[in-house]
Amino acid sequence: MSHEEFPTEDPAVVTCGLPYANGDLHIGHLRTYVGGDIYSRALKRLGQETAFVSGSDMHGTPVAVNAAEEGVTPEEFALRHHEQYEETFPKFDVEFDNYGHTHDATNVETTQEIVRALEEAGYVYEKEIPVAYDPDADQWLPDRFVEGTCPYCGEHARGDECDEGCGRHLEPGEIEDPVSTITGNPAEYREREHKFFAVSDLQEYLGEFIDRLEGTANAQNQPREWIEGELQDWCITRDMDWGVDYPGEDDLVLYVWVDAPIEYISSTKQYTERVGSDVFDWAEAWGADGGDGGEIVHIIGRDIIQHHTVFWPAMLRAAGYAEPRAVMASGFITLEGKGFSTSRDRAVWADEYLDEGFRPDLLRYYLATNGGFQQDVDFSWGRFRERVNNELVGTVGNFVYRSLLFAAREFGGAPDVDVSEDVRERIETAIEEFEAGVNGYSVREVGESAVRLAQFGNEYIQRNEPWKLEDDDPEKAQVIRDCVQIAKAVAVLFEPVTPEAAENIWNDLNEDGDVHAVGVEAALDVSAQDFGEPTELFEKIPEERVDELNEKLEARVAEATADAESEGEAGADEGDDDGEAAAADLEPIADERISFEDFQELDVRVGEIVAAEGVEGADKLAKLTVDIGVEERQIVAGIKQLHDLDSLPGTKIIVVANLEKAELFGVESNGMLLAAGEQADLLTTHGDAVPGTKVQ
Ligand code: 2FM
Ligand code: ZN
Repeated sequence: MSHEEFPTEDPAVVTCGLPYANGDLHIGHLRTYVGGDIYSRALKRLGQETAFVSGSDMHGTPVAVNAAEEGVTPEEFALRHHEQYEETFPKFDVEFDNYGHTHDATNVETTQEIVRALEEAGYVYEKEIPVAYDPDADQWLPDRFVEGTCPYCGEHARGDECDEGCGRHLEPGEIEDPVSTITGNPAEYREREHKFFAVSDLQEYLGEFIDRLEGTANAQNQPREWIEGELQDWCITRDMDWGVDYPGEDDLVLYVWVDAPIEYISSTKQYTERVGSDVFDWAEAWGADGGDGGEIVHIIGRDIIQHHTVFWPAMLRAAGYAEPRAVMASGFITLEGKGFSTSRDRAVWADEYLDEGFRPDLLRYYLATNGGFQQDVDFSWGRFRERVNNELVGTVGNFVYRSLLFAAREFGGAPDVDVSEDVRERIETAIEEFEAGVNGYSVREVGESAVRLAQFGNEYIQRNEPWKLEDDDPEKAQVIRDCVQIAKAVAVLFEPVTPEAAENIWNDLNEDGDVHAVGVEAALDVSAQDFGEPTELFEKIPEERVDELNEKLEARVAEATADAESEGEAGADEGDDDGEAAAADLEPIADERISFEDFQELDVRVGEIVAAEGVEGADKLAKLTVDIGVEERQIVAGIKQLHDLDSLPGTKIIVVANLEKAELFGVESNGMLLAAGEQADLLTTHGDAVPGTKVQ
């Protein structure tokens, strides 16, 4: 079943994934919020009644862990960041109709109501499960208070999410080899009763839902595997103080992923409370009035697709709310080809961008159009400059400025003639492209419709050369009239992406009304007649600025890396530390290929660690006795500080057996173990290959 095209008669709600209130915003975070803002503005331009909402995600262990490190209460910590986000978004013209937070009274109340509704509908049950516990800290270890190995892919993972491997949500008790992030000690599993939401009862519904779901292809395809596989029930309680209390239970709070998406509803409610239900009715939009609900569009990062296409629609369905119409999941953003790293200060911070004097429009344009929404996008100051100079200055700014300047100087505004048929049709085509962008969930298409129109305008003015025509030649007035109309249409269609520039064109044209409130049809409305000389819309970025910005970034990264290393942190590139994963900081693949014969010269074997001890006097070296089937080998490796040596015996590893012998710190090393990355993640076997098995 496909949905009716936008605009529909029903109210729409556009939401952006809630940022965890636990750190500064960088431009990587802004991609989702800018995308959401553009999409919601574009829907409004189409005449769709729309509320654009979000809020800060205050609960959960990401916030609790960071607050504890700072020595303040989670509430104080989260509120501070919430206020900071509330101030930052409008500076990028990301204008939510309502921006709340998950700890406010509306959300606490709505969450508890929904949980009661789930209970009443019979979707909640209790079950005894193993929960990680830190005996030294005498504390339960929910979610990010525990780390270990993902049971599905074997990668290092957080307690609730395999953030470095397969990306799965992990249930309490699932993570293997649990280690407490509070003390760094191995954790133990203790039995404990928790509440479960019976997602598996909704398997059939979810299968149908995913067929109806619109949005980006990744959000439609990725969840099928989960929904069609063995759908697990979802543990919805945690042993923590910080969170929304589970109704009727003193010692349990709700899992953060329960109250977080409910903020989408709460934030819409707050909007209705402010503007009145005659302007926007939250209950109609969310189907809480017994109706079918409106058009709910979720805009998120691709790391949280599962939550939005499985758990959340299941909750909505079970509690009697409307289901999402679409999920748009953005790709990650990298910086000069590498991942953002907050610990290494390898980021372009939101405040920093503004402090450098750049207008929000420029970044909005770059983020919206530098790739499809679901593709990964790389940011570099060099490419930023190129796109600003060539497209915003060279195409859009140039066309609008030269047209309006000519019109103002020669005619004191728009000549009093009708727009030509060809130009009218071209503007209609641009409106259709814009509409297709909205209906195809393509933020890029929305932005490009206006740029292509400006490009047409440039070609049109160039082809007709009005400056060569006599003043009394009617052709001159016609060309200028057409160009003024194209400029007006550019303002209307570019408003979602570059609201500030749109407003400037609008003012230059001496137009009445508000460019942020008009519909796309305004692109064809006859323009006002008189206006003066325009202002330049965008400024070129000189090449030296790029060098300067790159140097600043490099210096900062070097300083932060040195600090991290001197503090003994490995300075790992996050996946990211606030839950918004970034692409890994990876070295390029070696240019030079080796032959298969060269590879075969390596004798790589499965080994099993028999004993492990530190090399005396060496900070980093450990001496391992490794069984490689045919014999036992002594291998020295730089893993002393990175692994708990006592727990290593019994671990299977991969060994290069025919490497030349070496002497390290006076100890012979007869072979080399393979490990990944700065944390020396030990390579192991997936199945039960015995020691001595050749790796090929
Ligand atoms: O992953 C995150 O950053 C979460 N704070 C997103 C929550 S979105 C939602 F569903 F509320
Ligand atoms: Zn995994």
